[in-house]
Amino acid sequence: MIVAADEHGIALAARILADGGLVVFPTETVYGLGGLAHDPDAVARIYRVKGRPGSNPLIVHVAGTAQARELAGEGWNDVAEALAGAFWPGPLTLVLPRAQGLAEAATAGGPTMALRVPSHPVARALLAACGRPVVAPSANSSGRLSPTLASHAWEDLGDHVDLILDGGACPAGVESTVVDATTRPARLLRPGPVSPMKLEEVLGRFAVGPGSETVARSPGLETRHYAPRTKLVAVTNPEAAGRLAREALAEGREMASLAFGDTPADMILPGTPSEAEHALFAALHRLDSLGLDLIVAVLPPDEPRWWAVRDRLARASAP
Ligand code: TXA
Ligand code: MG
Repeated sequence: MIVAADEHGIALAARILADGGLVVFPTETVYGLGGLAHDPDAVARIYRVKGRPGSNPLIVHVAGTAQARELAGEGWNDVAEALAGAFWPGPLTLVLPRAQGLAEAATAGGPTMALRVPSHPVARALLAACGRPVVAPSANSSGRLSPTLASHAWEDLGDHVDLILDGGACPAGVESTVVDATTRPARLLRPGPVSPMKLEEVLGRFAVGPGSETVARSPGLETRHYAPRTKLVAVTNPEAAGRLAREALAEGREMASLAFGDTPADMILPGTPSEAEHALFAALHRLDSLGLDLIVAVLPPDEPRWWAVRDRLARASAP
C-alpha cells in the first residue's frame, strides 16, 4: 500500500515499524526499506524481501547525532565527531564499531556497523516518532537499481512490504557517501553526495576504496550492483558510443545512449555532478522500462567530483 507522507502517513508508518513491520520511506538519497534494528525478525525479513545475501550488512538510521553518539557508545571517536558535525543530518554514513543490542544480521554478524542520520524531513519525522534505530537498505531487490521515487519501490517490492510512504523524488538521488571511521586515515568506501572535496575539507587526508580488510567486512561493495535489467555498457567518449550505435543499427538491435552536459546523446543529464546524481537513477529506470537491447552511457570525466556518478555507472555496467 502506498500512502502520502503526511502527518497521518508518518504516524501509521511509525506504528508499523514499532510493531516489527517493514516500511519504505523517502530519504534525501534514495528510498529506504526500514525495519527495527533490534528486531531479528524484522531484519531477517528485510534480507528476504530484497533477496539480499546475508553477508551484506545494513545501515542503521537514527533521528539525530545525540542518538547516534549514544548508540555508538565507546566506539564513537574524533573522526565521527568531525564528520557528524559537518554533514549530519545528511547523506553520509559512518562505519563504527558495532553497537550492543542490534540484531546480529543487521551488521551481517560483523564487528562494525554503518550509521547515518538522514536529513529528509519525512525520514527525520519517522525516526523521531519511532524513537528507535531503524535499519534501511535501499528499497530495491538486491542488485537492481535504487529507487528515487515511491513508484520505483512499488514496482520492485509491491506488497512484500507493509507500507510505502510517498514523499516525492529524493533530492540527492544516489546513495549516501560511506566512510569507514574505524581506520586511520579514515577510508571512503562508497562515493556519494558528500563529495571527496568536502571530505577533504574536514579530514585532510583520507584513503579511498575498499582496503584489504574492508573487502571482507563490506561484501556489499562488490562490483555489480545498482544494475538495470537492460544490458548497459559504459564508454569514455562519444565516438565509442557512436560506434556502438552504428553496430546496433546494422544488427537491428535497439539502443539508447545516455550522457552528461554538452555530450550529445538520446538522454542528456546535467553537466553538474549534484544535478546529474539527482537525475541518474530515474533516467536509468526510464531507459530500462523501454525494453531496449542496449543502453550505452558516456561516462563523465574521471575527476573526484564525478566519482559518485562514475561509480554507479561502473557498477551498473559490470558484467
Ligand atoms: O543512502 C543510503 O545510504 C541509503 C538510504 C536508504 O539511507 N541506504 C543504502 O543502503 O544505500 P544499502 O544497504 O543499499 O547500502 C549500504 C552499503 C552497502 O554497500 C554495505 O555493504 C555498506 O553500506 N555497509 C553496511 N554496513 C557496513 C559496514 N559495517 N562496513 C562497511 N560497509 C558497510
Ligand atoms: Mg542498495
